[in-house]
Amino acid sequence: MRLKVAVLTGGGDCPGLNGAIKWVTKSALDPKLAEKRSISFEVVGITEGWKGLIEIDPGDPKSCDRYLKRLDEETVRTWDRYGGTNLGTSRTNPFNPKNDRSEILIDNVKKLGIDALVVLGGEDTLGVAYKLHKLGIKTVGIPKTIDNDLTGTEYSLGFDTAVNVIMEEIDRLRTTAGSHSRIFVVETMGRHAGWLALHGGECSGAYIILIPECPFDMDVVCELLRERKGREIHYSIIVVSEGAKLSGKQEFLRDNKIDDFGHPTLGGIASFVANEIEKRTGFEARSLVLSHLQRGGTPSAHDRLMARWFGIAAVDMLLNEDFGRMVSLVRGEITSVPMKEIINKLKLVDVEKYYDIERYNGRRSIM
Ligand code: F6P
Repeated sequence: MRLKVAVLTGGGDCPGLNGAIKWVTKSALDPKLAEKRSISFEVVGITEGWKGLIEIDPGDPKSCDRYLKRLDEETVRTWDRYGGTNLGTSRTNPFNPKNDRSEILIDNVKKLGIDALVVLGGEDTLGVAYKLHKLGIKTVGIPKTIDNDLTGTEYSLGFDTAVNVIMEEIDRLRTTAGSHSRIFVVETMGRHAGWLALHGGECSGAYIILIPECPFDMDVVCELLRERKGREIHYSIIVVSEGAKLSGKQEFLRDNKIDDFGHPTLGGIASFVANEIEKRTGFEARSLVLSHLQRGGTPSAHDRLMARWFGIAAVDMLLNEDFGRMVSLVRGEITSVPMKEIINKLKLVDVEKYYDIERYNGRRSIM
């Protein structure tokens, strides 16, 4: 039996995607493994995520050239070294109630002779994969999001590289913050979950870490800073998630735009916090938004390894007909979970377990 598998990446890009595509391709086409399998594979990449599968005209060679990429071992040989996604991505939602294009998509999958989809994405993209699975399209998911907020898995591709970026940038900030005795407020990504800010802040020794799961008070932030300035320290680093909220308030929005999945664009909290600190305490404060730097660059060793393991596991799942499931890491082991279980709930920071609500920082007692 021959299976035509299409791979696509959706949502925000991140380091590790190319590695996972490489290992899906390599393990599907591995000649040694092929000898033992009753199924052989053909692997194609779909460019620009769900948008590619909607906009492609299967009868038009030019359109197929744009949206389809034949993947073989030679094509993907070096991909694991590079960040981003060589297939391109989009935030297109085929099931957007205002513009539902799911029928076109399903029709194209059939016309292209695609037997199964390997979908690399976060909650939105995998939510689409799950809906398609319910409509009879065979899908397997691979988790990716630098926010690391997908349930059902301890790890999502991109997170480790992003935490390393935060750490490296804060290391850089420290020298100038120290020279000028300034406070720096660093804004990380993390729409709903504070993992990036918490882990990034913890591994770089931030004085205050503000996360969406624990609304904060500016009076407390200022008091913590005053307390510290009274001691020997002349500068402080504050890390804040883009989705962090003042007590009783909503997130800070960058503009009025809403994406295809109904999400607003967040931003502005770091500059607000820095301004308030200056106003309330007189301490000099600056802000910095790390923004998409966190999603850029080459994947860390951990992301390369996870990409490899997730990619290989996805092919095993195709062979075992484990459709409608997402590859996952549970207690350090690679396994899989039904996509149904990961939709509409996010893995948030357990404040009681990991966060000190008085210090606004990671806990200092583990047991
Ligand atoms: O989805 C993950 C994420 O990293 C969020 O934390 C952030 O709000 C969003 O991507 C920004 O993505 P973009 O600017 O590419 O739409």
